[in-house]
Amino acid sequence: MQSRIALVTGGTGGIGTAICKRLASMGHKVATNSRNLERGQEWQAKLKAEGFAVSVFPGDVSEVESARTLVESITNELGPIDILVNNAGITRDSTFHRMSALQWQEVINTNLNACFNVTRPVIESMRERRWGRIIQISSINGQKGQYGQANYAASKAGMHGFTISLAQENARQGITVNTISPGYIATDMVMAVPEDVRAKIVAQIPTGRLGTPEEIAYAVAFFVPDEAAWITGANLSVNGGHYMGW
Ligand code: CAA
Repeated sequence: MQSRIALVTGGTGGIGTAICKRLASMGHKVATNSRNLERGQEWQAKLKAEGFAVSVFPGDVSEVESARTLVESITNELGPIDILVNNAGITRDSTFHRMSALQWQEVINTNLNACFNVTRPVIESMRERRWGRIIQISSINGQKGQYGQANYAASKAGMHGFTISLAQENARQGITVNTISPGYIATDMVMAVPEDVRAKIVAQIPTGRLGTPEEIAYAVAFFVPDEAAWITGANLSVNGGHYMGW
């Protein structure tokens, strides 16, 4: 397979780390961003010790200018981005009647507005070069909703609306745009859910367990090769059977 240049936003997180490793092991040059460069460099050293080379650049994808600078730095250092995984995401869970404007805005800015902020400076070069892969990491809760997640579910449902519009606009330019909707994965984000609440959620998953970050990375890898050129605008559920809408 041809070696490509990939940007995985939020690559230092649970799912992000597995995606970076998977793309690197496929022979691609992988970059990610970190809002805290010191922590990002620690993460990079840990991956290097495990045999994975991933470049870390400073950048906050929730901000237009910071995302633009991030893309510019990666392009200058590694070359134009071929594979973009919009993975950065946060939760600020609260029932809506108690939710603050800040809890709403932080989630929409990081999960949804970041898709604009990062994809916009990437897309023109992909269109010119007539090859690209854009993958949104959404969530089961964007498909089914979740008690306490009006902000998060709105952002994640919005990500797939973004996917299906971009897929249409860029199909003739050799760019595929797809969504992956992970279910509950064993990461710090899910472990932050109170244990009793989490136990009730796991009880609803047909496979009887949380997913692993590697199981999401596998789905990302599926969309990348040339053989996947006709798969665009899809929303791939990877959730252990937790939600089977179609
Ligand atoms: N359906 C119906 N009622 C529910 C409910 C549900 N799913 N969850 C909670 N309630 C009810 C409770 O039973 C309780 O009722 P009573 O007062 O009658 O006992 C009431 O709502 C209040 O519940 P809490 O005590 O939990 O309220 P809280 O204000 O302390 O916390 C919450 C609310 C923050 C939403 C908390 O319930 C919570 O953290 N829920 C989990 C949310 C969640 O799944 N987040 C996913 C994070 S991981 C992620 O997002 C990754 C991904 O993509 C999957």
